[in-house]
Amino acid sequence: MSDAVVEIDNVTKTYDTIVAVDSVSLRVPQGQTLGLIGPNGAGKTTLLRLIASLAKSDCGDIRVDGESVSRHPRSVRKKLGFMPAEFGSPRNLSIGEYLEYFGCMYGIPRSERPLRIKDVCELTDLSGREEVMVKGLSTGNRQRLLLAKTLLHDPQVLVLDEPASGLDPRARTELRTIVRELAAMGKTIIISSHILSDIEEISDRVGILEAGQLVLDGDLTELRSQYGATKRVVKLRVPTDKIEQAMQVVTNLEGVSSCERRDHSLVISCDEEDCNFILEAILKHGIRVLQFAEDEPDLEEIFMRSTAGKVT
Ligand SMILES: Nc1ncnc2c1ncn2[C@@H]1O[C@H](COP(=O)(O)OP(=O)(O)O)[C@@H](O)[C@H]1O
Ligand SMILES: [Mg+2]
Repeated sequence: MSDAVVEIDNVTKTYDTIVAVDSVSLRVPQGQTLGLIGPNGAGKTTLLRLIASLAKSDCGDIRVDGESVSRHPRSVRKKLGFMPAEFGSPRNLSIGEYLEYFGCMYGIPRSERPLRIKDVCELTDLSGREEVMVKGLSTGNRQRLLLAKTLLHDPQVLVLDEPASGLDPRARTELRTIVRELAAMGKTIIISSHILSDIEEISDRVGILEAGQLVLDGDLTELRSQYGATKRVVKLRVPTDKIEQAMQVVTNLEGVSSCERRDHSLVISCDEEDCNFILEAILKHGIRVLQFAEDEPDLEEIFMRSTAGKVT
Protein backbone atom coordinates (compact mmCIF):
# COMPACT_ATOMS: atom_id res chain seq x y z
CA MET A 1 0.00 0.00 0.00
CA SER A 2 1.94 3.00 -1.20
CA ASP A 3 -0.42 5.63 0.21
CA ALA A 4 0.06 4.42 3.78
CA VAL A 5 0.95 7.26 6.14
CA VAL A 6 1.84 5.00 9.03
CA GLU A 7 3.88 1.93 8.14
CA ILE A 8 4.86 -0.55 10.81
CA ASP A 9 7.21 -3.34 9.80
CA ASN A 10 7.86 -6.30 12.03
CA VAL A 11 8.19 -4.30 15.23
CA THR A 12 9.00 -5.95 18.55
CA LYS A 13 9.37 -4.37 21.97
CA THR A 14 10.26 -6.30 25.10
CA TYR A 15 10.47 -5.28 28.75
CA ASP A 16 12.74 -7.76 30.51
CA THR A 17 10.93 -11.01 29.90
CA ILE A 18 7.66 -9.47 28.69
CA VAL A 19 7.14 -9.22 24.96
CA ALA A 20 4.83 -6.19 24.96
CA VAL A 21 4.71 -5.91 21.15
CA ASP A 22 5.50 -9.02 19.17
CA SER A 23 6.48 -8.78 15.46
CA VAL A 24 3.69 -6.40 14.51
CA SER A 25 3.29 -5.19 10.93
CA LEU A 26 0.53 -2.75 10.09
CA ARG A 27 -0.39 -0.08 7.55
CA VAL A 28 -2.69 2.88 7.96
CA PRO A 29 -3.64 4.58 4.70
CA GLN A 30 -3.80 8.36 4.41
CA GLY A 31 -6.96 9.83 5.90
CA GLN A 32 -8.20 6.63 7.47
CA THR A 33 -9.03 5.86 11.07
CA LEU A 34 -7.64 2.67 12.56
CA GLY A 35 -9.21 1.26 15.71
CA LEU A 36 -6.66 -0.65 17.73
CA ILE A 37 -8.51 -3.08 19.97
CA GLY A 38 -7.21 -5.30 22.71
CA PRO A 39 -7.68 -6.18 26.37
CA ASN A 40 -5.59 -4.59 29.10
CA GLY A 41 -1.96 -5.57 28.77
CA ALA A 42 -2.30 -6.43 25.07
CA GLY A 43 0.39 -3.91 24.13
CA LYS A 44 -1.72 -1.04 22.77
CA THR A 45 -0.02 1.72 24.72
CA THR A 46 3.41 0.30 23.94
CA LEU A 47 2.67 0.17 20.22
CA LEU A 48 1.23 3.70 20.21
CA ARG A 49 4.26 5.04 22.10
CA LEU A 50 6.55 3.38 19.57
CA ILE A 51 4.65 5.06 16.73
CA ALA A 52 4.91 8.39 18.54
CA SER A 53 8.67 7.87 18.94
CA LEU A 54 8.33 7.96 22.74
CA ALA A 55 9.81 4.48 23.08
CA LYS A 56 12.40 2.54 21.11
CA SER A 57 11.63 -0.78 19.48
CA ASP A 58 14.05 -3.72 19.76
CA CYS A 59 13.75 -4.40 16.08
CA GLY A 60 11.66 -3.54 13.06
CA ASP A 61 10.88 -0.10 11.72
CA ILE A 62 8.05 2.41 11.85
CA ARG A 63 7.62 5.17 9.30
CA VAL A 64 5.30 8.12 9.58
CA ASP A 65 4.74 9.90 6.29
CA GLY A 66 7.79 8.12 4.93
CA GLU A 67 10.11 9.05 7.78
CA SER A 68 11.59 6.56 10.19
CA VAL A 69 10.62 7.21 13.81
CA SER A 70 13.95 5.92 15.06
CA ARG A 71 16.09 7.92 12.64
CA HIS A 72 14.04 11.13 12.47
CA PRO A 73 12.06 11.35 15.72
CA ARG A 74 11.95 15.13 15.69
CA SER A 75 10.46 15.40 12.28
CA VAL A 76 7.99 12.60 13.07
CA ARG A 77 6.87 14.45 16.21
CA LYS A 78 6.06 17.50 14.09
CA LYS A 79 3.70 15.47 11.95
CA LEU A 80 2.17 13.49 14.75
CA GLY A 81 0.05 14.25 17.81
CA PHE A 82 -0.02 11.74 20.66
CA MET A 83 -2.77 11.79 23.24
CA PRO A 84 -1.73 9.72 26.25
CA ALA A 85 -4.15 7.70 28.33
CA GLU A 86 -3.32 9.68 31.43
CA PHE A 87 -3.55 13.35 32.17
CA GLY A 88 -0.22 13.90 33.87
CA SER A 89 0.15 17.61 33.26
CA PRO A 90 0.13 20.78 35.33
CA ARG A 91 -3.33 21.44 36.66
CA ASN A 92 -2.80 24.73 38.35
CA LEU A 93 -3.57 26.63 35.16
CA SER A 94 -6.60 27.78 33.25
CA ILE A 95 -7.48 26.05 29.97
CA GLY A 96 -6.07 29.02 28.04
CA GLU A 97 -2.84 29.08 30.04
CA TYR A 98 -2.46 25.33 29.71
CA LEU A 99 -2.71 25.50 25.92
CA GLU A 100 -0.41 28.51 25.83
CA TYR A 101 2.12 26.57 27.90
CA PHE A 102 2.09 23.57 25.57
CA GLY A 103 2.03 25.77 22.49
CA CYS A 104 5.27 27.24 23.79
CA MET A 105 6.69 23.77 24.53
CA TYR A 106 5.85 22.66 20.99
CA GLY A 107 7.72 25.64 19.60
CA ILE A 108 4.70 27.34 18.05
CA PRO A 109 5.71 31.00 17.51
CA ARG A 110 4.10 33.37 20.00
CA SER A 111 2.30 35.29 17.27
CA GLU A 112 0.62 32.14 15.95
CA ARG A 113 -0.44 30.75 19.31
CA PRO A 114 -3.69 32.72 19.83
CA LEU A 115 -5.07 31.55 16.51
CA ARG A 116 -3.98 27.95 17.04
CA ILE A 117 -5.52 27.95 20.53
CA LYS A 118 -8.73 29.40 19.18
CA ASP A 119 -8.84 26.70 16.47
CA VAL A 120 -8.23 23.77 18.79
CA CYS A 121 -10.77 25.07 21.30
CA GLU A 122 -13.34 25.26 18.53
CA LEU A 123 -12.53 21.76 17.35
CA THR A 124 -12.90 20.31 20.83
CA ASP A 125 -15.87 22.43 21.93
CA LEU A 126 -13.89 24.29 24.55
CA SER A 127 -14.48 27.76 23.11
CA GLY A 128 -15.47 30.31 25.71
CA ARG A 129 -13.98 28.23 28.53
CA GLU A 130 -10.40 29.48 28.29
CA GLU A 131 -10.65 31.02 31.78
CA VAL A 132 -11.86 27.83 33.45
CA MET A 133 -9.28 26.16 35.69
CA VAL A 134 -7.94 22.78 34.64
CA LYS A 135 -8.08 21.49 38.19
CA GLY A 136 -11.83 21.08 38.56
CA LEU A 137 -12.60 19.83 35.07
CA SER A 138 -14.86 16.84 34.54
CA THR A 139 -13.27 13.78 32.95
CA GLY A 140 -15.02 14.60 29.67
CA ASN A 141 -13.64 18.14 29.55
CA ARG A 142 -10.23 16.98 30.63
CA GLN A 143 -10.11 14.52 27.73
CA ARG A 144 -11.16 17.29 25.36
CA LEU A 145 -8.42 19.51 26.68
CA LEU A 146 -5.90 16.71 26.27
CA LEU A 147 -7.10 16.31 22.69
CA ALA A 148 -6.92 20.08 22.13
CA LYS A 149 -3.31 20.00 23.31
CA THR A 150 -2.59 17.11 20.94
CA LEU A 151 -3.94 19.19 18.04
CA LEU A 152 -1.99 22.37 18.80
CA HIS A 153 0.72 21.89 16.18
CA ASP A 154 -1.85 20.77 13.61
CA PRO A 155 -0.43 17.28 13.14
CA GLN A 156 -1.45 15.23 10.15
CA VAL A 157 -1.40 11.97 12.14
CA LEU A 158 -3.22 11.53 15.45
CA VAL A 159 -2.46 8.76 17.88
CA LEU A 160 -5.07 8.60 20.64
CA ASP A 161 -4.61 6.18 23.52
CA GLU A 162 -8.00 5.12 24.91
CA PRO A 163 -9.45 8.63 24.81
CA ALA A 164 -12.92 7.36 25.74
CA SER A 165 -11.83 5.51 28.84
CA GLY A 166 -13.61 6.74 31.95
CA LEU A 167 -16.13 8.81 30.01
CA ASP A 168 -19.87 8.59 30.50
CA PRO A 169 -22.02 7.62 27.46
CA ARG A 170 -22.78 11.22 26.55
CA ALA A 171 -19.14 12.29 26.69
CA ARG A 172 -18.24 9.23 24.62
CA THR A 173 -20.68 10.25 21.92
CA GLU A 174 -19.29 13.79 21.94
CA LEU A 175 -15.76 12.49 21.65
CA ARG A 176 -16.73 10.28 18.73
CA THR A 177 -18.22 13.30 16.99
CA ILE A 178 -14.98 15.23 17.42
CA VAL A 179 -12.88 12.33 16.13
CA ARG A 180 -15.17 12.01 13.14
CA GLU A 181 -14.71 15.72 12.40
CA LEU A 182 -10.96 15.33 12.56
CA ALA A 183 -11.17 12.39 10.18
CA ALA A 184 -13.28 14.52 7.83
CA MET A 185 -10.47 17.08 7.87
CA GLY A 186 -8.25 14.39 6.38
CA LYS A 187 -6.28 13.39 9.46
CA THR A 188 -4.93 9.87 9.69
CA ILE A 189 -5.99 8.56 13.10
CA ILE A 190 -5.02 5.62 15.26
CA ILE A 191 -7.31 5.23 18.25
CA SER A 192 -7.12 2.50 20.85
CA SER A 193 -9.79 0.98 23.01
CA HIS A 194 -10.41 -2.22 24.86
CA ILE A 195 -13.94 -2.36 23.47
CA LEU A 196 -14.58 -2.66 19.76
CA SER A 197 -18.14 -1.35 19.97
CA ASP A 198 -16.74 1.88 21.35
CA ILE A 199 -14.87 2.79 18.20
CA GLU A 200 -16.50 0.55 15.61
CA GLU A 201 -18.57 3.44 14.28
CA ILE A 202 -15.66 5.77 13.69
CA SER A 203 -13.08 3.29 12.40
CA ASP A 204 -12.38 2.48 8.76
CA ARG A 205 -9.97 -0.23 9.74
CA VAL A 206 -9.51 -2.34 12.81
CA GLY A 207 -6.51 -4.11 14.29
CA ILE A 208 -6.88 -6.59 17.12
CA LEU A 209 -3.97 -6.99 19.48
CA GLU A 210 -3.68 -9.92 21.84
CA ALA A 211 -0.65 -10.54 24.04
CA GLY A 212 1.45 -8.27 21.84
CA GLN A 213 0.47 -9.92 18.58
CA LEU A 214 -1.71 -8.47 15.90
CA VAL A 215 -4.19 -11.29 15.41
CA LEU A 216 -6.50 -9.60 12.95
CA ASP A 217 -6.39 -6.44 10.88
CA GLY A 218 -8.15 -5.05 7.91
CA ASP A 219 -10.89 -2.94 6.44
CA LEU A 220 -13.87 -3.00 8.78
CA THR A 221 -16.47 -3.34 6.04
CA GLU A 222 -14.60 -6.27 4.55
CA LEU A 223 -14.08 -7.91 7.92
CA ARG A 224 -17.71 -7.44 8.76
CA SER A 225 -18.86 -9.16 5.61
CA GLN A 226 -16.23 -11.84 6.01
CA TYR A 227 -17.07 -12.65 9.61
CA GLY A 228 -20.39 -11.06 10.32
CA ALA A 229 -22.94 -10.81 7.57
CA THR A 230 -22.83 -14.43 6.48
CA LYS A 231 -23.82 -15.44 9.95
CA ARG A 232 -27.07 -14.85 11.72
CA VAL A 233 -27.52 -15.15 15.40
CA VAL A 234 -30.72 -16.35 16.98
CA LYS A 235 -31.72 -16.69 20.57
CA LEU A 236 -33.82 -19.68 21.52
CA ARG A 237 -35.52 -20.10 24.85
CA VAL A 238 -37.10 -23.40 25.89
CA PRO A 239 -38.22 -24.74 29.26
CA THR A 240 -35.17 -25.22 31.52
CA ASP A 241 -35.54 -29.00 31.70
CA LYS A 242 -35.43 -29.18 27.90
CA ILE A 243 -32.39 -26.99 27.36
CA GLU A 244 -29.87 -29.86 27.19
CA GLN A 245 -32.00 -31.75 24.70
CA ALA A 246 -32.52 -28.61 22.60
CA MET A 247 -28.81 -27.98 22.58
CA GLN A 248 -28.15 -31.46 21.26
CA VAL A 249 -30.75 -31.10 18.53
CA VAL A 250 -29.42 -27.72 17.41
CA THR A 251 -25.74 -28.67 17.53
CA ASN A 252 -26.38 -31.58 15.20
CA LEU A 253 -28.11 -29.47 12.57
CA GLU A 254 -26.33 -28.75 9.36
CA GLY A 255 -26.03 -24.98 8.90
CA VAL A 256 -25.43 -24.27 12.57
CA SER A 257 -21.90 -23.13 13.27
CA SER A 258 -22.15 -22.71 17.01
CA CYS A 259 -24.59 -23.12 19.85
CA GLU A 260 -23.90 -21.80 23.32
CA ARG A 261 -25.90 -21.76 26.48
CA ARG A 262 -26.35 -18.31 27.94
CA ASP A 263 -28.43 -18.16 31.10
CA HIS A 264 -31.73 -19.78 30.21
CA SER A 265 -31.34 -19.48 26.45
CA LEU A 266 -29.32 -20.87 23.61
CA VAL A 267 -27.42 -18.45 21.39
CA ILE A 268 -27.06 -19.98 17.98
CA SER A 269 -24.93 -18.83 15.04
CA CYS A 270 -26.36 -20.00 11.81
CA ASP A 271 -24.83 -19.93 8.32
CA GLU A 272 -28.14 -19.76 6.49
CA GLU A 273 -30.10 -16.65 5.61
CA ASP A 274 -33.26 -18.25 6.92
CA CYS A 275 -32.96 -19.74 10.40
CA ASN A 276 -36.45 -21.20 10.65
CA PHE A 277 -35.12 -24.71 10.11
CA ILE A 278 -33.87 -24.52 13.70
CA LEU A 279 -37.33 -23.74 14.97
CA GLU A 280 -38.82 -26.56 12.92
CA ALA A 281 -36.32 -29.10 14.24
CA ILE A 282 -36.99 -28.08 17.83
CA LEU A 283 -40.74 -28.32 17.40
CA LYS A 284 -40.40 -31.69 15.67
CA HIS A 285 -38.72 -33.00 18.81
CA GLY A 286 -41.72 -31.90 20.83
CA ILE A 287 -39.83 -29.17 22.65
CA ARG A 288 -41.92 -26.17 23.58
CA VAL A 289 -40.47 -22.86 22.37
CA LEU A 290 -40.73 -19.90 24.73
CA GLN A 291 -38.79 -17.48 22.56
CA PHE A 292 -37.14 -17.53 19.15
CA ALA A 293 -35.68 -14.23 18.04
CA GLU A 294 -32.94 -12.91 15.87
CA ASP A 295 -30.06 -11.27 17.69
CA GLU A 296 -27.63 -8.69 16.33
CA PRO A 297 -24.46 -10.54 15.45
CA ASP A 298 -21.96 -9.28 17.95
CA LEU A 299 -18.98 -8.29 15.84
CA GLU A 300 -16.66 -8.34 18.78
CA GLU A 301 -17.66 -11.84 19.74
CA ILE A 302 -17.25 -13.04 16.18
CA PHE A 303 -13.80 -11.46 15.95
CA MET A 304 -12.76 -12.87 19.26
CA ARG A 305 -13.93 -16.31 18.28
CA SER A 306 -12.15 -16.09 14.96
CA THR A 307 -8.92 -15.11 16.65
CA ALA A 308 -9.17 -17.42 19.66
CA GLY A 309 -6.22 -19.72 19.98
CA LYS A 310 -3.93 -17.71 17.72
CA VAL A 311 -2.02 -16.50 20.72
CA THR A 312 -0.72 -19.20 22.99
N1 LIG B 1 7.53 0.51 31.05
C1 LIG B 1 7.23 -0.78 31.19
N2 LIG B 1 8.03 -1.61 31.91
C2 LIG B 1 7.74 -2.93 32.05
N3 LIG B 1 6.68 -3.52 31.48
C3 LIG B 1 5.86 -2.77 30.75
C4 LIG B 1 6.07 -1.36 30.57
N4 LIG B 1 5.08 -0.87 29.78
C5 LIG B 1 4.27 -1.91 29.51
N5 LIG B 1 4.73 -3.04 30.08
C6 LIG B 1 4.12 -4.38 29.96
O1 LIG B 1 3.87 -4.61 28.59
C7 LIG B 1 2.61 -5.25 28.39
C8 LIG B 1 1.76 -4.38 27.48
O2 LIG B 1 1.37 -3.21 28.18
P1 LIG B 1 0.59 -2.01 27.50
O3 LIG B 1 1.27 -1.65 26.24
O4 LIG B 1 0.44 -0.95 28.52
O5 LIG B 1 -0.81 -2.68 27.17
P2 LIG B 1 -2.26 -2.01 26.97
O6 LIG B 1 -2.07 -0.57 26.68
O7 LIG B 1 -2.86 -2.78 25.84
O8 LIG B 1 -3.00 -2.24 28.25
C9 LIG B 1 2.04 -5.46 29.77
O9 LIG B 1 2.35 -6.77 30.16
C10 LIG B 1 2.75 -4.44 30.62
O10 LIG B 1 2.83 -4.88 31.94
MG1 LIG C 1 -2.86 1.10 27.57
